[in-house]
Amino acid sequence: MKAKVKTVYVCQSCGSQSPRWMGKCPDCNQWNTLVEERVEKQKDIGAAKRGKGSEPLALNEITIGDEDRFVTKIGELDRVLGGGIVTGSVVLIGGDPGIGKSTLVLQMLKQVSELRGKALYVSGEESPAQIKMRAQRLGVKAENLYVLAETSLDEILRAADELQPQVIVIDSVQTVYTSELPSAPGSVGQVREVSGRLMIHAKKTGIPTFLIGHVTKDGAIAGPRVLEHIVDTVLYFEGDRGHAFRILRAVKNRFGSTNEIGVFEMKESGLAEVANPSEMFLAERPKDATGSVVVSSLEGSRPILAELQALVTPTKMTMPRRTSIGVDYNRVSLLIAVLEKRVGMHLMGMDVFVNVVGGLKIDEPAVDLGIIAAVASSFREKPINSNTVVMGEVGLAGEVRAISQAELRLKDAAKLGFTRCILPMVNVEKLEKTAGISKMQLMGVRTVDEAMGRLF
Ligand code: TYD
Ligand code: MG
Repeated sequence: MKAKVKTVYVCQSCGSQSPRWMGKCPDCNQWNTLVEERVEKQKDIGAAKRGKGSEPLALNEITIGDEDRFVTKIGELDRVLGGGIVTGSVVLIGGDPGIGKSTLVLQMLKQVSELRGKALYVSGEESPAQIKMRAQRLGVKAENLYVLAETSLDEILRAADELQPQVIVIDSVQTVYTSELPSAPGSVGQVREVSGRLMIHAKKTGIPTFLIGHVTKDGAIAGPRVLEHIVDTVLYFEGDRGHAFRILRAVKNRFGSTNEIGVFEMKESGLAEVANPSEMFLAERPKDATGSVVVSSLEGSRPILAELQALVTPTKMTMPRRTSIGVDYNRVSLLIAVLEKRVGMHLMGMDVFVNVVGGLKIDEPAVDLGIIAAVASSFREKPINSNTVVMGEVGLAGEVRAISQAELRLKDAAKLGFTRCILPMVNVEKLEKTAGISKMQLMGVRTVDEAMGRLF
């Protein structure tokens, strides 16, 4: 048996060290911050990251944008990665269990193995037979795709060195352990040590490595959060398990923009790319229903049109109910107060429910005016013209404030056949009528009251 490496417990909050684990850091008094680490400091990571021995380079000798990349031809994935997979990069894909991470990487491995050669899929969660079953379901029969059911890091690295694949996927990083640390697989110390060594391996060999990590709702201690600083790129795979669509979002990318998202739909035969997400979200929109409005939400650099619904019903309770799904609860309460005070709508005796259709979560002030419009429409029982898109941020004084990227959103709406848009006057004044939106009727408003006039 190999000698155990000397370890020390380091407080993740203040850096204080202790030879034993303690629940509370004696220096900064924080609880549960001590994590096991190897004693020899990771000098090698820094050197490995920079590639060859580090020499100072004249700034104008450095060229950018020429990292070695290859595409997977899954357009939505390539875009989020910043234009393809960068050799030697380490990418973390996080997400709730069951969201489709394994499905996504298996489809990616299929592409890589067909386009480039050998690919290695390491699974610590499923048996080769289970993986084979999934692969059959996905129609993957790639000859160059190798599966390894293994959780020991040393064995994984040995197999990788032997196979020399074009890409390695570790599913999931929480199941892999190194015998050099006594702690259990999945503990913060293990996850960090394993990722650190995979990082060094990727830089040394140039083999791009994907790590899968589960995140629990509270961003679990041993979850991928602790890895975000180590890896090159962090992608989150999000979505609602009750709904088919999934969003792949870059939250960190050393080789590209973090402003990109990829949209997929989970089907019987795996994940399908969604080239036009707005179409998908608006597919089942009822015509001329009260309380329904189309809003535009910017996801990364892409506008997505979504349907927002509100239902306002009389209540017998002393405290009326306010429920919101897909938009922030406090935001909805605030906007209801604005409607009461600035428009004089009596919502005190009413329950108000607000929902974004399709399980989409919108976290953007530009949908404020949409929420107001939906609630007002349901309250007054008057439908909103179905060719209208509503956008604008709303302030407490009832003023409608400018939104970002108005032109981009308008072009997207025009493409889907929308002909009217109610938007902040400030945006209308700044907009030049470009070809993309020339057929649209733009109605600028300065206040919520004015918007009411335009809507109904
Ligand atoms: P999976 O990739 O195993 O999720 P994760 O690795 O993130 O835990 O996907 C799990 C879900 O996806 C599972 O509930 C079944 C569903 N699914 C499909 O709907 N179609 C498919 O083709 C596949 C492979 C899975
Ligand atoms: Mg999985």
